[in-house]
Amino acid sequence: MNRKLIAGNWKMNGLRVDLQTVREIATGLAASTAAPEALLCVPATLLAEAARQASGTALCIGGQTCHSQEKGAYTGDVSAPMLKEAGAGFVITGHSERRTGHGETDEIVAAQARAAVNAGLTPIICVGETLDERSSGATLKVIEGQLTGSLDGLEPNSFVLAYEPLWAIGTGKVATPAQIAEVHAFIRQFLEQRFGKPGQTVKILYGGSLNPGNAAEILPISNVDGGLIGGASLKAGDFLAIYNAAAALTV
Ligand code: PGA
Repeated sequence: MNRKLIAGNWKMNGLRVDLQTVREIATGLAASTAAPEALLCVPATLLAEAARQASGTALCIGGQTCHSQEKGAYTGDVSAPMLKEAGAGFVITGHSERRTGHGETDEIVAAQARAAVNAGLTPIICVGETLDERSSGATLKVIEGQLTGSLDGLEPNSFVLAYEPLWAIGTGKVATPAQIAEVHAFIRQFLEQRFGKPGQTVKILYGGSLNPGNAAEILPISNVDGGLIGGASLKAGDFLAIYNAAAALTV
């Protein structure tokens, strides 16, 4: 079984006062190396300070997107080396809110992920279908297309994947265990075909309304190697409850 990764995505939430939550999460984690990995992807403005607060604990800090170029005339963007220097170990790429709100295509997502790897970061590459795509039976085809494009030029042990059905993000609607199992098995099969044996150990996270009430049901599903958590990662108690649900599976 892969070591699980419990990752929070704070999105555009968090001011300095919320660094208290980072401290609470960092001090609430189990210290053993067998315990799940824990990560908080915070806004870029909080990254350096969050990394400082988490330093010496088991908590990693990450960014939420990065530009595909190292530097240059890209007003408002943040590069992977900047995130790395600020203390990030990971960066989310291709979140659906970036794909839909900022026109990020599979090609762009792959370029961002390669930039992340080049800077020494682990990209968490997100894929997922819309409700219309699911209703019309196109889910696996959509996922296959996103994987094919978004993984271009990447080595198997350099990235993490996250399956996040768009209709489950921030809606309180959770995919059923059967839906999650089907898509995660499909992604695993894709990874094995593409990369051979190393494809077996690429982490595949589930994201979409994961919370303390459903974590114990979702995290044990085959090929679910952790979670990407939005809303519930904003409260230390909720994040730690999900983390503890993952930790309970490894003992
Ligand atoms: P949610 O967000 O947990 O609030 O549904 C998940 C995500 O967008 O990563």
